[in-house]
Amino acid sequence: MKTEVIPSHEYSSTVADEIVASINEVLEQKPRCSLCLSGGTTPAAIYRLLGLPPRVHEVQWQLVDLFWGDERFVPAEDPRNNARMVHDTLLHQFRTAPGPIAYPINTALSTAEEAALTYEGTLKQQGISGEGDAVFDIVLLGIGEDGHTASLFPHNPIPDSRLAFSCEHPTDGTSRISLTPTALFSAKQVYFLVTGANKSDMLGRILRGEGTAAEYPALHAAQALGNVIWFADSEASGAGGL
Ligand code: 6PG
Repeated sequence: MKTEVIPSHEYSSTVADEIVASINEVLEQKPRCSLCLSGGTTPAAIYRLLGLPPRVHEVQWQLVDLFWGDERFVPAEDPRNNARMVHDTLLHQFRTAPGPIAYPINTALSTAEEAALTYEGTLKQQGISGEGDAVFDIVLLGIGEDGHTASLFPHNPIPDSRLAFSCEHPTDGTSRISLTPTALFSAKQVYFLVTGANKSDMLGRILRGEGTAAEYPALHAAQALGNVIWFADSEASGAGGL
């Protein structure tokens, strides 16, 4: 796994440029690019830059299909909703220009498990099965201080042969929908986006391969089938001794 340390003040613009380059590389090879987005707060500034000049003009966004790596089972208008975060930062900027096709996780269904099963169907309809070439082109992920990624939480069983499943956040109890390692780490390119001094200890553990994927689910990345790049800002790379 490759690590890139970026000065904090250049982090969002540098990662946004990497994502633009990666999408364009995919679109040189295929008619559409599947981009699976991370939730949380770290990527918000990056998504905002992607929707503004110059980057909004550097990609044929109408050829990009957007998916979500996880979602909080809250209404679409809830400020905690990851799809709302992507709308407020990126998608709203395509009001007049042709933009990406978004496939958000439907949190208006009756249960998180129904939402997970429905999203699994959406992924398969869109040609994502986690096998062969039926994989995401690009997946963006964050990590928590406890080593979680997407909504894969420590010591939380992950059902076999699923692409998406429901679970609960270990501390606030919110129901979540998460893609599984099968869906996430079969991707051709995975970018972890990690900023802040509070992440440096966990980032260091993960990059040194300490612990297990059950303890630190971001370690599932060690079994990734494609390329994995860790984009860390200077604060996250500090105490971790990167
Ligand atoms: C979510 C994310 C989650 C996130 C990490 C880091 O829905 O919250 O999928 O995995 O990426 O918790 O979150 P921050 O970027 O807010 O630190």
